[in-house]
Amino acid sequence: METAITLDELRQARKNLPAPLGLVPTMGYLHEGHLSLVRAARRECASVVVSIFVNPTQFGPQEDFDRYPRDLPRDLALLEAEGVDLVWTPTPQGMYPEGYQTWVTVEKVAAPLEGAMRPGHFRGVATVVVKLFNAVQPDRAYFGQKDAQQALVIRRLVADLNFPLEVVVCPTVREPDGLAMSSRNIYLNPQERRAATVLYCALTAAQAAYQAGERNADRLRQAMEAVLAREPLARPQYVSCARLDDLQEWQGEVSGPALLSLAVFIGGTRLIDNLVLGGEL
Ligand code: PAF
Repeated sequence: METAITLDELRQARKNLPAPLGLVPTMGYLHEGHLSLVRAARRECASVVVSIFVNPTQFGPQEDFDRYPRDLPRDLALLEAEGVDLVWTPTPQGMYPEGYQTWVTVEKVAAPLEGAMRPGHFRGVATVVVKLFNAVQPDRAYFGQKDAQQALVIRRLVADLNFPLEVVVCPTVREPDGLAMSSRNIYLNPQERRAATVLYCALTAAQAAYQAGERNADRLRQAMEAVLAREPLARPQYVSCARLDDLQEWQGEVSGPALLSLAVFIGGTRLIDNLVLGGEL
């Protein structure tokens, strides 16, 4: 497995990799969710590149950039064992040198939900993803459904900016009790870790109601809220039942594919999760 830090090193190593090339962009501190993306890329592509970069521009000033977990030696060992060809670990200075001033802004689909709660987040994501795509020039790029809005934002920018690549969205990987895998789960103490299962319980309660025939969007949102209300450590930030294509909230009857999603503080840790109803990402 090769590693590259600078853009020159990346470009040099990239030249020798056969097509189709799969890129798995990550912020490191890898878990089974990331590894499922790597495995999908390994199955479907002749070469696999993984980027590890904790992107400062997608974190708000009060967010966890400084304490975001990092463990590069462990990440590299995991990726080597998965048969990855090349790992790119750019530096913040390499990505955003002195004088940097170019940003990518996706509009409507980036505005609600995470976009509303985390101003500037998707500008940072879209910008860094475009820079990763330009540098690596993948044929396929792999993202997790756990960050469903991010996947939709990236699909939009790939279409709008004519990137010749396919965005592949892989299913959320969950712990046995349903908690979606996330690097941020490490922040939870044992009591909070138990409480964190409430996100998946809330989503599955609404999913069960939908499967039993409930199509009223308010009642599906209420089904999630009722479960969250029973967990004293949970502070919901939003609960959504939105149209899957543009993330506008369903009003009245849900008559097409929907994304159920929520963001909930468990103690000081903000967690997100989602399920798709009547379609797929
Ligand atoms: O999902 C992530 O880990 C990040 O948002 C990404 C796509 C690697 C961009 O920094």
